[in-house]
Amino acid sequence: MHNHLWWKRGIIYQIYPRSFQDTNGDGIGDLEGIRRRLDYLTWLGVDAIWISPVYPSPMADFGYDVADYCNIDPLFGSIDDFRLLLDDAHGRGLKVVMDFVPNHTSIAHEWFQQSLSAKDHPKRDWYIWRDPAPGGGVPNNWVSSFGGPAWTFDEATGQYYYHAFLSSQPDLNWRNPDVCCAMHDVLRFWLDLGVDGFRVDVIWHLMKDPDFRDNPVNPGYGEGRGEIEKFLQVHSTDHPDVHGVIAGMRKVIDAYPDRVLIGEVYLPVERLVTYYGQDLSGAHLPFNFQLLEVAWQAQRVADLIVEYDRSIPDGGWPNWVLGNHDRPRVAARIGEKQARVGTMLLLTLRGTPTLYYGDELGIGKIHIPDHLVHDPWEKNEPGLGLGRDPERTPMQWDASEAAGFTTGTPWLPLSSDHLSRNVVLQREDAASMLNLTRALIALRRSSAALSVGTFALLKLQGDMLAFERRYSEERVIVVLNLCHNEECWDMPADVVGKILLSTGLRAPDEPVSGSICMQPDEGVVIRCH
Ligand code: NOJ
Repeated sequence: MHNHLWWKRGIIYQIYPRSFQDTNGDGIGDLEGIRRRLDYLTWLGVDAIWISPVYPSPMADFGYDVADYCNIDPLFGSIDDFRLLLDDAHGRGLKVVMDFVPNHTSIAHEWFQQSLSAKDHPKRDWYIWRDPAPGGGVPNNWVSSFGGPAWTFDEATGQYYYHAFLSSQPDLNWRNPDVCCAMHDVLRFWLDLGVDGFRVDVIWHLMKDPDFRDNPVNPGYGEGRGEIEKFLQVHSTDHPDVHGVIAGMRKVIDAYPDRVLIGEVYLPVERLVTYYGQDLSGAHLPFNFQLLEVAWQAQRVADLIVEYDRSIPDGGWPNWVLGNHDRPRVAARIGEKQARVGTMLLLTLRGTPTLYYGDELGIGKIHIPDHLVHDPWEKNEPGLGLGRDPERTPMQWDASEAAGFTTGTPWLPLSSDHLSRNVVLQREDAASMLNLTRALIALRRSSAALSVGTFALLKLQGDMLAFERRYSEERVIVVLNLCHNEECWDMPADVVGKILLSTGLRAPDEPVSGSICMQPDEGVVIRCH
């Protein structure tokens, strides 16, 4: 198993730094907070942390609007705090993955300020400037992902600049070789400091149609959806030239041993897998977000696993994500009981799992009152359920007033059940979501079959999903009951084994053969003799 690279056999834990641990009482998490919680993360058993952006930023999009790629925002600490965190994490055997945001900067970045200053400034072409359409108005019909036009007019120079997100997040022009060089230097800056890799923000956005053709209308668009869905993003994203850009990043990273390149890609599977790149020259792990959206039924989940498995190029390594800072939490999507089953799925599938902070406690639906909304998307397109604040609320460490997250006022409200749902209480409760997650992580790490073994889907029965993982002589079977009724699953004739772990109340070591009666909402891991 140890012949496999860490990012293949390991488990990644995503930290949203504003919300993990505050140490200076300003109600916003910081790097020192993450450092003080490293013991928790090693106790939980994860291998790596990915930290959402901590660069200097006006925080219009909470750090995804970067004003300086080679520094730390004072809100989170200093570059020395970052070094300390990195050293401490490495001392504990934890890898650290940075968030890299190359598609756009903040308007506050000096590159953009220079670009804005004059049409003939050498940095003008570092961003995407276009003349108004012949009759006046925006150059094309591209829409911002957060609603509204994707073009903002600059009176002084008479041109529009493009921004796939907020108008304060202008897109960089990756067709300009100087931009590539500057961004490669940024990667080297952090690699030299010792980071173990990058999660690249909206990697599929980096190259756009050089002719800036209009996007076609989406015939499937319906009321109540975000404006971005009115058009199919065929010309504004996923341009074939993006793969050359990613291969360029890979070259930079490959000059350092043992680093990983993860790409954020929201595309259908057949497009997603192209991000492994020709001859695997692309992202090591193009994030696979399908579990975030699938209808929670055994057949649907089975279909997507099979399709994904079949689509990955030879030598490409799969990965799975169950939650992140942009999508409703898993317990909010499928309910608390099924979230336990979902976590078992995440941690037993073939491919690197990414676990989102707080999901190990089963944090669920959170209502954010209007006056506390922070997310710019919710502010731009209110009431459509697009807001991302609910999945970004503070980590719940203990039963104190602010859950041990801060001595001040948390920047977002805590979930209403934080007094009963927190790390301290769940550590003491053998049946808690936290202890289940920890046991699953330990099981995955101790089992070659689960961490790096082969995968085969077994017969679907009712709303039960079952699969087998194998490595050499080791054979493990996972059965997941995706419904709320008791159901039986007929085991393959040659399976005789015992329960290693259940999401329910079943005792470990229970012998199984023939047929297994699953409790409602239960998942089990079985070791075959
Ligand atoms: C994807 C990030 O995950 C999201 O949080 C952000 O708003 C957009 N990219 C823009 O950077």
